[in-house]
Amino acid sequence: MTQPKKEKTPAEILELAAETTRLAGEEVASTSAVSLWPRRIKSFVMRAGRTTSGQQKALDELGPQFLLPFSKEPIQWREAFANLPPKYILEIGFGMGETTAHIAKIRPDDNFLAIEVHEPGVGALLKRIGEESIHNIRIIRHDAVEVIEYMLGDASLDGFHLFFPDPWHKKKHNKRRLVQPGFIEKILPKLKSGAYIHMATDWEEYAYQMLEVLSQNPQIKNTSTKLERLEDGREVLGFATRPAYRPITKFENRGLKLGHGVWDLMFVKL
Ligand SMILES: C[S@@+](CC[C@H](N)C(=O)[O-])C[C@H]1O[C@@H](n2cnc3c(N)ncnc32)[C@H](O)[C@@H]1O
Repeated sequence: MTQPKKEKTPAEILELAAETTRLAGEEVASTSAVSLWPRRIKSFVMRAGRTTSGQQKALDELGPQFLLPFSKEPIQWREAFANLPPKYILEIGFGMGETTAHIAKIRPDDNFLAIEVHEPGVGALLKRIGEESIHNIRIIRHDAVEVIEYMLGDASLDGFHLFFPDPWHKKKHNKRRLVQPGFIEKILPKLKSGAYIHMATDWEEYAYQMLEVLSQNPQIKNTSTKLERLEDGREVLGFATRPAYRPITKFENRGLKLGHGVWDLMFVKL
């Protein structure tokens, strides 16, 4: 005789849902009832990587001054950035912070909110902040998509930087790319009218995806005057000349020497 099936407890159901979703290659929230639904696919994986003693020292000593904790409350910009002029640029995924530090130094009148999930990178940028006496950067170590959702008020940003975002080369991973219509819809209300969006990538196919996604949004306008043909044959305004403030990093230089391309995009919010 077959045994009657034992009802699963809520905890077992959650466990099973988490396991199923994990197997499908996605991530789930851990506890609440809504976590039965897969959470948004992340645009990053937590890379292994050792935080060096210098980075750790910077985290310990400068973290309290330059790191803002993630919270579900909007940022108090003026408090976070002391008395600086109220111009705020968001950067997502600064890696080791080489570009971020450079730009913040040559643009002292702008404030930079720099977001990264990778701890050694956060330590590395804090180290640069200390060594180069940079005052106009604040860092949040958290998923930027949640920062946008919870911490940024409408019409609070003057600019948005996204440099060399993870390209997620494989077709099956393309869904992890940040630049998709849904993401642009999330970020656009946070930009003031006249604010700019500057992206760069060295992955051609992603460059065209960025161009297509940005071009199709009627709330923003491409500043480029060059024409470019999209895959579907449509002609749109195309890629921008690299603005002087964006430095060529060592990594980018290596690629350029090997003949690889780099594509910049510059749009403004209407
Ligand atoms: C390929 S690296 C580029 C780093 C840097 N912008 C550069 O030009 O060298 C992309 C970075 O974005 C970070 N990243 C990806 N998705 C993110 C997210 N949702 N929130 C915060 N950081 C993210 C990754 O941890 C990674 O360090």
